[in-house]
Amino acid sequence: MAKRQPVKPGHSVDDLHPPEKGSTGAITYPGIIGASPSMQQVYSLLSQVAASHSTVLLLGETGTGKELIARAIHQHSPRRNKMLVNINCAALPANLIESELFGHEKGSFTGAIDRRIGKFELANLGTIFLDEIGDMPPDLQVKLLRALQEKEIERIGGKAPIRTDVRVIAATNRNLHHAIEQGRFRSDLFYRLNVFPITLPPLRERKEDIPLLVEHFLTRFARQENTRLAAGVLDQLQQCHWPGNVRELEHLIERSILLNEGSLIKKVPLPGSRSRNSSTATAEPVIKTLEEVERDHILYVLRRCGGKIFGAGGAAELLGLHVSTLNHRIRKLGIQKEQVFTVKKEQTK
Ligand SMILES: Nc1ncnc2c1ncn2[C@@H]1O[C@H](COP(=O)(O)OP(=O)(O)OP(=O)(O)O)[C@@H](O)[C@H]1O
Ligand SMILES: [Mg+2]
Repeated sequence: MAKRQPVKPGHSVDDLHPPEKGSTGAITYPGIIGASPSMQQVYSLLSQVAASHSTVLLLGETGTGKELIARAIHQHSPRRNKMLVNINCAALPANLIESELFGHEKGSFTGAIDRRIGKFELANLGTIFLDEIGDMPPDLQVKLLRALQEKEIERIGGKAPIRTDVRVIAATNRNLHHAIEQGRFRSDLFYRLNVFPITLPPLRERKEDIPLLVEHFLTRFARQENTRLAAGVLDQLQQCHWPGNVRELEHLIERSILLNEGSLIKKVPLPGSRSRNSSTATAEPVIKTLEEVERDHILYVLRRCGGKIFGAGGAAELLGLHVSTLNHRIRKLGIQKEQVFTVKKEQTK
């Protein structure tokens, strides 16, 4: 476990927001829901590491709350009055990430019409959140490693290195050990980032938190007071597998509220259930959210391509997206391989 680092000059310990104690004496963080033992363990690690300047590596499946935890770490750290700068390593084309991270000087490459400050410099004295770090292109991993080791960066086309004091929080839903074995992730960068790992539990391993999460999302999305689930629905939710974790549950509750009339929700579109589609023959057409439309369309195209993403005739080409952007959306939307390949059966129903 990482040693606590002393609070640096310019950052006062008195500035820290203490986490709250719940009625049972357990630690709680505003907006982070979960009272299960595995979440208590996460809160305990969070409160140990937040006050330091240590690098944190957040691991866990998609939708388990890594971004939420990253924000909480920054908000409870001595750097909370400085910037938390997010960078999504999966969503940017490889040729832009370097300039995003480290900046560039005017004229350093075609299109560099102005000097640009990179995110590392922007985050100086604050925190940088390197999201989806497992998707960072290998050549850039070398440069990131250097920035972390030397604590200095160089703008593209810059003449002198620039010293930075940045706290790093990285997150990924990838298995970095596999990525290292396959040569997609540098082991030296992994060891540099793996100072204080926190692994977020999947929802299926903390089903006792589902009622609390449902309550939280009902309060957030309900259009009328006292909106609640009918008896039995909660049990059904606790029996689901939740490959998309809290994000999937959150969307399901939001969708259920939109589809429901009145304050009692008797039926929810359970993950994998086709009940909603079958009801549309007699009911009003359902208004899909943009995200649902996006999800359906990506699934449709993936099915048309037999799951092929890369190359000619692949889904990325058909959708006009970069492969990394498409992969990112697939994960964000919780699209699973099985859903791509179970289509034939579903379509013939
Ligand atoms: N413990 C929690 N309490 C309340 N909301 C949560 C919790 N965990 C996740 N969420 C919500 O679920 C959604 C997904 O969370 P988040 O974006 O942090 O997941 P993630 O682990 O970063 O996923 P990905 O790997 O796909 O990027 C967010 O809207 C977040 O607010
Ligand atoms: Mg995330």
